[in-house]
Amino acid sequence: MSALERNDMQGLLLSAYGHLPWSANVVLRIDAAARARGWLGSLAGSVTSALGKHRTRGTNVALTYCGLRALGLGGAAGFPLAFVDGMASARRARLLGDCGASAPGAWSWGSDPDSVHVLLMLFADEETGLAAALAEHRAAFAANGLHEIVTLATRRHRDGKEHFGFSDGIAQPAIRGERSSEPARRRTNPDNDVAAGEFVLGYRNEYGRLPDTPAVDAAADPGAVLAGAGGGTHDLGRNGSYLVFRQIEQDVAAFWRFLDDRTRGSEGSDSAARERLAAKFLGRWPSGAPLVQAPLADDPQLAAANDFGFAADRRGLSCPVGAHIRRANPRDGFADEAPRQSVRRSNRHRLLRRGRPYGPRIANVLEDDGASRGLAFICLNSDIERQFEFVQQTWINNVTFCGLANEVDPLVGAQNGSGFYTIADDPLRARVKGIPRFVTTKGGAYFFLPGLRALRFLASLEPVAAG
Ligand code: HEM
Repeated sequence: MSALERNDMQGLLLSAYGHLPWSANVVLRIDAAARARGWLGSLAGSVTSALGKHRTRGTNVALTYCGLRALGLGGAAGFPLAFVDGMASARRARLLGDCGASAPGAWSWGSDPDSVHVLLMLFADEETGLAAALAEHRAAFAANGLHEIVTLATRRHRDGKEHFGFSDGIAQPAIRGERSSEPARRRTNPDNDVAAGEFVLGYRNEYGRLPDTPAVDAAADPGAVLAGAGGGTHDLGRNGSYLVFRQIEQDVAAFWRFLDDRTRGSEGSDSAARERLAAKFLGRWPSGAPLVQAPLADDPQLAAANDFGFAADRRGLSCPVGAHIRRANPRDGFADEAPRQSVRRSNRHRLLRRGRPYGPRIANVLEDDGASRGLAFICLNSDIERQFEFVQQTWINNVTFCGLANEVDPLVGAQNGSGFYTIADDPLRARVKGIPRFVTTKGGAYFFLPGLRALRFLASLEPVAAG
């Protein structure tokens, strides 16, 4: 039996909706609070919960801190600083590495936090179904005091590949003791089981503690829509989570041309060497096979493999220490700790990833077609600072990660063109130099993904003066 209150949780927490490949992320501004609350109230009835599977459609919704205020929430305590600051704030931009072309001032949306209030996420099994759902919603925005800021349509392709050409969405933490979206064949690694409280508010986390949760004065919830939280407060956070949304543009041609340039032989391009270097950047082959299990060549039989660690590959001879998947989740591979301790440490910084590609696929990876494409990066966590921001700052963009020097993540790091990438080998390591930045942040925000009771509470708010 599930220990989670699935009927009060939005479905995205427990499912990546792999059966609904078409989706749209609609970013909205609230212009009229009372009407927007009415809209949220009627939406709440059709929000997809984590209870069952909806075959053809899915709807989830999240709000920024400014969005909660715009809705009329004045007296909620306990929202974390990162969420209150917002992703576009100078403090967050600095620690996320959003500088230069990725600086909030250069974003196409989201640089003004008070224009981003609601994220409506629509999912469908068919393109036409998504278009119909989007049209239905669009027809009602203006009358409900909502203004559409941007809509990022995304699609999970049948082969599961993101734009650089690698299989994505393989490694996900499994919530300990839960049946989840993680297919059974991947649930062979107990190291991958993580406490529910790392992702859902109201449950114990990896420290054995309940995560901080926002609460409202009991008097603000006379109908007791929310559960009591002690001390005269009601729990607004229960069964909710924090959702990080980033539009990350990928320069696919720049990526593959760079790899091509670094692997050319006297005969010109060497596609096998190019692909091998790309796999060394990521830590998996294009099929998804992990380098630690398939060090020499891609092996599609291992495409879904997630039952591995890095302890046996301490020096990074198979999977370089600075590879994307090793930085994003070092697993048992911290050299200064026993493997078990290392797993415990890594599991305090896990993310439930729900991102999907946007934009058209490129026809020839070596030719820039000028199209805009990338990843609508979405992840869920109960502590933005300790999880998403930590991964981004302390692992992905850390120039001294695990004893390396002057290197950041070669695939998605904040490169400035002067960094290295070390590929260990015996007897001599190789070093790739002058790596440019292949990804650019184009927009983003931190959202609160409320539980269903919390959604109903927000829809029925009696506005109070901002405190
Ligand atoms: C355009 C940007 C990005 C691309 C193309 C990308 C691509 C990938 C791919 C292909 C994988 C391996 C497949 C898998 O295990 O699902 C992966 C894994 C992962 N990525 Fe990214 N990623 C991007 C950005 C990020 C960012 C910004 C973060 C976090 C701050 C992140 C965190 C992770 C994590 C946690 C894993 C799983 C590692 C593991 O447990 O083995 N990624 N990514």
